[in-house]
Amino acid sequence: MLDLLISNAALADGRTHMSVAVQDGRIVEVTQGLQAPAHETVDAKDMLLSSPFVDPHFHMDATLSYGLPRVNQSGTLLEGIALWGELKPLLTQEALVERALAYCDWAAAKGLLAIRTHVDVCDPRLLAVDALLEVKRRVAPYIALQLVAFPQDGVLRGPQGPQQHLDNLKRALDKGVDVVGGIPHFERSMADGALSVKLLCELAAERGLRVDMHCDESDDPHSRHVETLAFETQRLGLQGRVTGSHLTSMHSMDNYYVSKLIPLMAEAQLHVVANPLINITLQGRHDTYPKRRGMTRVPELLAAGLNVAFGHDCVMDPWYSLGSGDMLEVAHMGLHVGQMTSQAAMRQCFEAVTRNAARVMGLENYGMEAGCKADFVLLQAHDPVEAMRLRATRLTVFKAGEIIAETPAATSSLKLPGRPAQTDFRR
Ligand code: FE2
Repeated sequence: MLDLLISNAALADGRTHMSVAVQDGRIVEVTQGLQAPAHETVDAKDMLLSSPFVDPHFHMDATLSYGLPRVNQSGTLLEGIALWGELKPLLTQEALVERALAYCDWAAAKGLLAIRTHVDVCDPRLLAVDALLEVKRRVAPYIALQLVAFPQDGVLRGPQGPQQHLDNLKRALDKGVDVVGGIPHFERSMADGALSVKLLCELAAERGLRVDMHCDESDDPHSRHVETLAFETQRLGLQGRVTGSHLTSMHSMDNYYVSKLIPLMAEAQLHVVANPLINITLQGRHDTYPKRRGMTRVPELLAAGLNVAFGHDCVMDPWYSLGSGDMLEVAHMGLHVGQMTSQAAMRQCFEAVTRNAARVMGLENYGMEAGCKADFVLLQAHDPVEAMRLRATRLTVFKAGEIIAETPAATSSLKLPGRPAQTDFRR
């Protein structure tokens, strides 16, 4: 007897009328029209059954702190960093844990079951590190949380010298943080930025860890640390284990230079994470008109064979006042900013918040095949494009074959004079 049989499902790859059989938390079969006894059966009614959403780039230590201690007036990245600096001394571990857990509840209800979050390691108390390690433990039954040691103020810019933040970062890794982070464009000089990339990649190679750097989050066309990141990845044999996050300067770079850069990134098998909701609002703030969009070159990077994912980055924090843990909103914005409007490109945007994001995190057994984990989300949409268009309701969220969240189907009824009553006109 199966534990769970879902029938009449549409899958993200275009297969329809599919049955998905689950035993012991794993998918055991995906086929058309399977009839078999099961403890629980779900009729998907031709709706989209997708692998869960994955957020490959988030800041859970800052989330839900909007307005504390004040609001970002200029809307720039730099005021956001300064504001976070004002908030840091006021943080308590209890409040950090409470806000992060609240966000994880939002995420699970939206079918977001894996999150890579950066955690600031510049506070010598490592308060946020301890808080998020605690959160990681507590949400493990339903969310896979991966932590990145992120030196927000610059790994070489410690007030007590260049060793201070590097030592903090190493202590965070010793405590169990999973990934080495960095912020080369925020170091004091281009040379220090390049040095930080070298030191941090060497540290990751020594410890057998992955790397995920905030890299070139700037409108400066000469911010070129991603070149160093690709070089160090190739030099140290870290291919496929390094992510360049943001990469917004690529938007403003000279096209000739980019024609050399992208093949180097592909050679290093870099993963790329764009954060469209955040960078469409943060970037271009020093422009008059035309204003730059400030998202990296997503279609061109995909065409070169790089793995590109979209991250949420921020929800209600010093950098972004909106957001709700909805990765369909992220995909929707990425689609617009990148002008990715062909059928194939729109489907790539859905993959950017599911399959590609799972590859960034190195998640194992993720997917809709026999042997994969029985984690899925049933959406009130027939295919990925419709799901993004409607930011579709997450009808049912499954973790290891168990239902962990349900949301009633969205429906409306229209009663206009002289017209028959209509319902469900969403399409
Ligand atoms: Fe970020």
